[in-house]
Amino acid sequence: MKTTTLPFQKKQKINTASQRDIIHFYDEATEDYEFWSKDLNMHFGYFIWGKTNPFKRDSMLNEMNDQIYKRLMLDGDHRIVADLGCGMGGTMRHFLKKDRLLSMIGVTLSPFQVKEGNQLLKQENGIILEEDYSQTSIPTDSMDGVVGIESLCHSGHNLECLREGYRILKKGSKMVIGDAFLKKPPSQLCLGSRYSYNGLCKGWSLSGLGVIHEVEDRLKQIGFSYVKVEEVSFRVAPSVLHVPFAIVGFLMKNLWKGKPIKPQSWNNLKASFYSLVSGLHMKDFGYYIITATK
Ligand SMILES: C[S@@+](CC[C@H](N)C(=O)[O-])C[C@H]1O[C@@H](n2cnc3c(N)ncnc32)[C@H](O)[C@@H]1O
Repeated sequence: MKTTTLPFQKKQKINTASQRDIIHFYDEATEDYEFWSKDLNMHFGYFIWGKTNPFKRDSMLNEMNDQIYKRLMLDGDHRIVADLGCGMGGTMRHFLKKDRLLSMIGVTLSPFQVKEGNQLLKQENGIILEEDYSQTSIPTDSMDGVVGIESLCHSGHNLECLREGYRILKKGSKMVIGDAFLKKPPSQLCLGSRYSYNGLCKGWSLSGLGVIHEVEDRLKQIGFSYVKVEEVSFRVAPSVLHVPFAIVGFLMKNLWKGKPIKPQSWNNLKASFYSLVSGLHMKDFGYYIITATK
């Protein structure tokens, strides 16, 4: 950490059963993501014809980071952005390398990610805290931007986590969310979608994906003055198509090394497979980037 000492107090951790599942999942399975992304991006990518190489996964994953960064529309000399559910800090490192005026705070539930992620951030202007993103110690009205990439789904994009994003943002600043959403309530999903949705939520310890129009309404109800919702499913699809190859590659590598596959790694592999199946049900699922201005 070069600058910015942050006067944050650590808050009481809430350990609901599902938070324990999330912690267990990420403490055990985070290392597997090295196979998905050498930059340790724990999300899908964004494909642009002629710019990103569809065969190079990390170029698409980092393009997703760039797309999220662009929508923050940061300005000013000293800006600070929070990453709610930051994983290993892949997005943080990408932003910080790209923007030398930026400082970042990431929060995650996983102690493994805090320890290893902070190691990787040693030379950068960022820090990862072990906190619940629905109840952070980040001061009110203090952030120039907030991002949440494939992390708020763990809480079903609920009111609490969205409200926390709103609370910590400065007026006029933006919260940008990149994630998969349902296009209709779970009860209205077709049988195939419901099956893959259940597998996805179980394998990745998700409370459930938000229903896109409900999440949009929730953001407006919280007080965001402007909410822009963009469906980017076709941009994300080429990276989703990497899933079967990544699964087979991961299994072969482990078999070759004689390494047993941990239960949480199986969960991760199964959920990845269900994400591919869900992605095919385009009437029920979509990948969206939401930009909400306070
Ligand atoms: C799929 S990973 C995405 C990580 C990162 N955003 C990225 O794109 O590389 C989901 C992350 O959300 C975090 N997470 C889930 N629920 C959380 C909560 N209630 N509070 C803080 N972090 C949470 C997990 O610990 C994990 O780091």
